[in-house]
Amino acid sequence: MTESDASTVRAWLRGIEVFSRPMPAFATDRAPAEPSELFLTWLTDAVEAGVPDPHAMTLSTVDEAGDPDSRVLILKDVGPEGFRFAGHSASPKGVQLSGAPRAALTFYWAEFGRQVRVRGAVRPEPAERSAADFLARSATARAEALLGRQSRYLADPDSRDRALRNSLARIEAEPELVDPAWTLYTVLPDVVEFWQAAATRVHVRLRYEKEGTGWQRRQLWS
Ligand SMILES: Cc1cc2nc3c(=O)[nH]c(=O)nc-3n(C[C@H](O)[C@H](O)[C@H](O)COP(=O)(O)O)c2cc1C
Repeated sequence: MTESDASTVRAWLRGIEVFSRPMPAFATDRAPAEPSELFLTWLTDAVEAGVPDPHAMTLSTVDEAGDPDSRVLILKDVGPEGFRFAGHSASPKGVQLSGAPRAALTFYWAEFGRQVRVRGAVRPEPAERSAADFLARSATARAEALLGRQSRYLADPDSRDRALRNSLARIEAEPELVDPAWTLYTVLPDVVEFWQAAATRVHVRLRYEKEGTGWQRRQLWS
């Protein structure tokens, strides 16, 4: 890339508008005591507005060298206890979580200029809860998980198709088959931050910090 290409890209990026649409107000003084309640209000707003994949979130973890990693997952459940997602324990994220069982989650609903950040310890759920999550997945998703090869190099797409066909046949013959490595995880939050964009650029931030059994709410500079 030449220097003039780079400056064109820079100018192009600078020209893309951000937060130029109407944004909701965020009355932090009326925020509930429990962050999952406010999270569910914001998620409901996104669902009702037709935001695509409103329950998709970025899960960030660290590997054994301390290098960060992140990827998008689907939120499976949320409540006062925490935020749940599911994945294969032998995948990179599963291996990272077994070595360093803490994570961050990030949600962003662009239509509302709203971001939620969550940090906390990660706990694998008991086998029967993970099995229930596994059995609620589509047959193809279960067949793929059973192969246990997520994120490995794929040298030969034909061999993948054959392996998937065999795995699907196993599931058809044994519909209650469960992959014991499929795991439902709960992030037990100790910090949850709600960030509301404003066209004025005076964005509003409210951080919930766990203290004892309750939560302290504090506003942050934007
Ligand atoms: C919208 C969306 C939803 C996804 N949902 C999941 C999920 O619920 N579980 C999962 O294991 N991977 C999910 N993925 C794939 C992950 O982003 C990732 O590619 C995969 O889990 C491998 O990650 P790893 O190599 O860090 O373990 C999803 C991807 C996208 C874009």
